[in-house]
Amino acid sequence: MITSKLPNVGTTIFTQMSQLAVEAGALNLSQGFPDFDGPQALRDAVGRHIASGHNQYAPMTGLPTLRQQVAAKITRCYGVEVNADTEVTITPGATQAIFCAIQAVVQRGDEVIVFDPSYDSYEPAVALAGGRCVHVQLNRDDFAIDWQKLGDALSPRTRMIILNAPHNPSGALISRAELDQLAALIRDRDIYLVSDEVYEHLVFDGVRHVSVLAHPELYQRAFVVSSFGKTYHVTGWKTGYVVAPPTLSSELRKVHQYVSFCGVTPLQYALADFMAEHPEHVDELPAFYQAKRDLFCDLLRPSRFSFTRVAGTYFQLMDYSQIRPDLNDLDMAIWMTREYGVAAIPVSVFYQDPPQGQRLVRLCFAKREETLRQAAEKLCVI
Ligand SMILES: Cc1ncc(COP(=O)(O)O)c(C=O)c1O
Repeated sequence: MITSKLPNVGTTIFTQMSQLAVEAGALNLSQGFPDFDGPQALRDAVGRHIASGHNQYAPMTGLPTLRQQVAAKITRCYGVEVNADTEVTITPGATQAIFCAIQAVVQRGDEVIVFDPSYDSYEPAVALAGGRCVHVQLNRDDFAIDWQKLGDALSPRTRMIILNAPHNPSGALISRAELDQLAALIRDRDIYLVSDEVYEHLVFDGVRHVSVLAHPELYQRAFVVSSFGKTYHVTGWKTGYVVAPPTLSSELRKVHQYVSFCGVTPLQYALADFMAEHPEHVDELPAFYQAKRDLFCDLLRPSRFSFTRVAGTYFQLMDYSQIRPDLNDLDMAIWMTREYGVAAIPVSVFYQDPPQGQRLVRLCFAKREETLRQAAEKLCVI
């Protein structure tokens, strides 16, 4: 009998709900991916690069042209310079970047602080490194950091804190003042950060994302992670990157080179071309997704769900306490999928210890207008 290294891990809720959506013929607003394609020019570029022979291994750290485009984008968006050679590493997805950062730093017996609700890939990666996650709950109303709880959770064994802003599943942002407060709290401690910023370009209402890249003190101890999949509507390409100071990047690369060695070559060429030719793509993303958020929320106004429009990401939380307070959120998500044809994600799966009586499901609005209209029609009759 094999002794599982991850005894508590099964098939994720994202796979389960997507399967149930197919079985029930429901609209899938559960897993976070668009039901529309990435830009035509980007897709055409992949074909061009495959046809022209860009089909062998890329450099371990990523194609230089793509790393340079990432560095240029960072300067444009956040006003800071990073070295494309020593600080930027292209990875097969943000998930792999996060995994490698954790393996590079976390040692047996170390503690890693994650904020609940938290993305599901963090904890298994910490467990495989021999560490232990310490779960700190975000505020229940606005999903901001509770500084008292964070302070209480720090210990001499704390080796890493994982931040995620814009935050999945709540859409909450982080402010410069909060980053300052975090810096003050960990200033004299040997603690590293993973800053999961995969939704960095999905921030609404004229607000700008505050990146750890633009916080010099925190950046010195940070791995900042992003995903081309989210930014260019190509989640299936599983291509991301991590930016970290040279000494941290060099440790991360030691892991990355044996987990995958490199990312997919023609995809990297295509992304580099597209970023060079269409730098405006990232500037247009907030308005693009804000229009989807607003359409969806406007259509849901007559429904019995209650909600506050999200500040970022492509997820909208919906409180269903007026509809079926008797159902826990997993049962609610299953019921909505089977009976009303809209698949959602229960928010309790993002917690180690879900708050009592919380009645929230997460819906993904990275969908065509037609899908959002159909989904809203169904949700309004629940
Ligand atoms: C918070 C968060 N981090 C990381 C990822 C993974 O990104 P990738 O598909 O590039 O691995 C996701 C995808 O849903 C996410 O929501």
